Amino acid sequence: MGFQVSPSSDIYSEFDHWVVTGASGLLGANFLRVAAHPKRLLTGIFNKHPLALPGTRTIHADLLCSRQIIDSLDDLKPNVIFHFAAATNVDWCQAHQDEATKMNVDVTHNLVNWAELNGCLFVLMSTDSIFDGVTGAYIETSTPHPCNHYAATKWQAEQIVIDALDEYLVVRANIFGWNAQNKLSLAEWILTKLETKQEIPGFIDTTFAPLLVNTLSGLLIRMVEQGCRGVFHAASTTPISKHEFALETARTFNLSERLVLTAKLEDSELLAPRPLHTWLCADKLAHHLKIDLPTIRQELTQFKRLRDTGYTTTLKYAYKGSVVT
Ligand SMILES: NC(=O)c1ccc[n+]([C@@H]2O[C@H](COP(=O)([O-])OP(=O)(O)OC[C@H]3O[C@@H](n4cnc5c(N)ncnc54)[C@H](OP(=O)(O)O)[C@@H]3O)[C@@H](O)[C@H]2O)c1
Repeated sequence: MGFQVSPSSDIYSEFDHWVVTGASGLLGANFLRVAAHPKRLLTGIFNKHPLALPGTRTIHADLLCSRQIIDSLDDLKPNVIFHFAAATNVDWCQAHQDEATKMNVDVTHNLVNWAELNGCLFVLMSTDSIFDGVTGAYIETSTPHPCNHYAATKWQAEQIVIDALDEYLVVRANIFGWNAQNKLSLAEWILTKLETKQEIPGFIDTTFAPLLVNTLSGLLIRMVEQGCRGVFHAASTTPISKHEFALETARTFNLSERLVLTAKLEDSELLAPRPLHTWLCADKLAHHLKIDLPTIRQELTQFKRLRDTGYTTTLKYAYKGSVVT
């Protein structure tokens, strides 16, 4: 059985209006599927990748057009903003630092200003990679030391939220799942390679504790509903290397483990430096929500179940394929 977090339906507000940026992204599209509920108005913002989701109004907006997005928020009047949109390609951010800062820092600043003026709860999705990755086991009060520009922008965005707002959630995680768009999360990439019998490098010098985006979505909803505020880590309970993660994916999908080769992230020639051991300790979250967080095996089992039950097909169908220019 996969691990599932269901929103607690008895405490839905009659008038919740949630605006979700990054609706076409890995987290956003799955979050909107999980969050859809008759008592909740959902507006998802996409930019270049239009999509249609049940129970959600999706609208186009370029968050870099700061005046346009403020006017839209004035019209929409949400009581919660989930800010998931970001420049997420780590090497692109390293090569385009000014643009990455505009997207990840300045856009957050603009949205936070609106939230502050309008008494709106603000939820920022952040990342385990704000830490230097030397020790792992990071808790919410560990000191971030970003080692690349993407991580630095996410840490700056966190500070903007924390400094300006009382009503906020900053949630750090590492994620995998099914994309609506034609791009591959780590687990999808592993699967695609193994299913076509291609060898892949599995990094043994890394440790992370990712969550399935669907699980994370349920957790975010519960955190909002149950009044969690502040900084939280969300993670699975079993920190593993990317090599072990690839092996576990192979086992879950009955594919050959022999295709997973041993490699070192340290030896790879990536543009941006990467932290090695970023696994997060999420005891605070488990304690606040009074739940047991899932193991990575449970998460991968659920990942497989989503495909076996047709969820992945309907999610892909939501993506309209054309690119807004
Ligand atoms: N993926 C990970 O492993 C990971 C790990 C930890 C934390 N996070 C954080 O989690 C959040 C979600 O990540 P993700 O993987 O779901 O992201 P993603 O799949 O890369 O999607 C990024 C989203 O941002 C939107 N976006 C980018 N530029 C925009 C603009 N100018 N105006 C409006 N929207 C814009 C994109 O819209 P279009 O595609 O429509 O242009 C897309 O919906 C991010 O904040 C990320 O930093 C991700």
